[in-house]
Amino acid sequence: MSAAEQSAAGVRGGAHDEPAFGVYIHWPFCLSKCPYCDFNSHVRREPIDETRWVRAFGDEIATTAARVGARAVSTIFFGGGTPSLMRPQTVGSVLETIARHWPIAADAEITLEANPTSVEAERFRGYRAAGINRVSLGVQALEDSALVALGRTHSAREALDAVAVARAVFDRYSFDLIYARPEQTPEQWSRELRSALPQAGEHVSLYQLTIEPETPFAALYAAGRLHPPDEDIARILYDVTQEICAAHGLPAYEISNHARPGRECRHNLIYWRAHEYAGIGPGAHGRLDIAGDRHATATEKRPESWLARVEKHGHGLVTDDVLTVAEAADEFLLMGLRLAEGIEAARYAQIAGRPLEPDRIAMLRQHGLIETTPAGRMRVTLSGFPVLDSVVADLAA
Ligand SMILES: C[S@@+](CC[C@H](N)C(=O)[O-])C[C@H]1O[C@@H](n2cnc3c(N)ncnc32)[C@H](O)[C@@H]1O
Ligand code: SF4
Repeated sequence: MSAAEQSAAGVRGGAHDEPAFGVYIHWPFCLSKCPYCDFNSHVRREPIDETRWVRAFGDEIATTAARVGARAVSTIFFGGGTPSLMRPQTVGSVLETIARHWPIAADAEITLEANPTSVEAERFRGYRAAGINRVSLGVQALEDSALVALGRTHSAREALDAVAVARAVFDRYSFDLIYARPEQTPEQWSRELRSALPQAGEHVSLYQLTIEPETPFAALYAAGRLHPPDEDIARILYDVTQEICAAHGLPAYEISNHARPGRECRHNLIYWRAHEYAGIGPGAHGRLDIAGDRHATATEKRPESWLARVEKHGHGLVTDDVLTVAEAADEFLLMGLRLAEGIEAARYAQIAGRPLEPDRIAMLRQHGLIETTPAGRMRVTLSGFPVLDSVVADLAA
């Protein structure tokens, strides 16, 4: 089967409904704060006491394991922040703790997000020895002037060198680029993307710049000093991205994620396929199925407050909501329709307790916004992706 056929058949990345359990670990520190970023990341003057953090991660893992019970871990993801600031021994200790509480599958995907600086690339072998088997690098741009504008501390050369180290050390690696940047034209982006893809392995994440509220970019934008492309140009940029990546054998399997068939990020697929994951560390979110209920969990965001809570209670949970049937069904749609493989109507009916409304499906199909895959799944069309939120709103419970 060709890549396109596999994609259309919706068989990529393993069986959709096979139960999978992921563990997300959040490292909330960065050396500097990028002006576009609203992730839960913080800059600290004082050195971080990693021994204390290992203990706290361990306590929260133990408490979570006692709650959810027996599971086999299919994926682990160290995200941030900048997890590549953690010492390899710290990463190794966290992995050992996870393995003490749940068996880790022999083929588990274990990813660490890294900033592409030379200092961090030097730690890659240590991470591999600690058990990491996949890295995801935040390259962001391959033009030095754009990297400066994004507040990045690395040059394009340094980032490409870090990608080369990742390629030499790990079987699996990915990198992120941000496009639809201020003043960026489709011609400039096409050139940049074409020069980036030969450096790609099996996976790339290509994000359109979002102006996040309360970031320095939001203030500049409000003051009329930042000019991201308008909607029409953004649409052209999106289409150009799909074309170039597909031609390179890296079709989109999710709105912003591209992979060679079968090489998708299995951890992120757990989110999009609405499987189960534990969120460990400050500001981490989880979805846990306990005694027939789907729990949406979130922990305290501020690093020091999270530490204090864990040291007192054994966990940093500040939210633990049981989703209603309608909430779980809407979330299933919202996440699943991001994927090229789409969703299975029967699984929706199982979660929602009722099928999708045939007349709404017919209306969206008529507008060319959804279609049926050869495998009989329902997915959003390429022209539907830019208006995904309204497609989901039309279908939702
Ligand atoms: C948790 S971040 C970080 C990884 C790592 N700290 C780094 O910066 O290299 C994950 C990715 O989200 C993307 N990102 C963050 N803020 C964004 C924004 N406002 N718009 C688009 N993409 C964004 C970046 O590509 C980034 O690499
Ligand atoms: S983009 Fe990465 S390095 Fe920059 S502030 Fe966000 S998490 Fe930190």
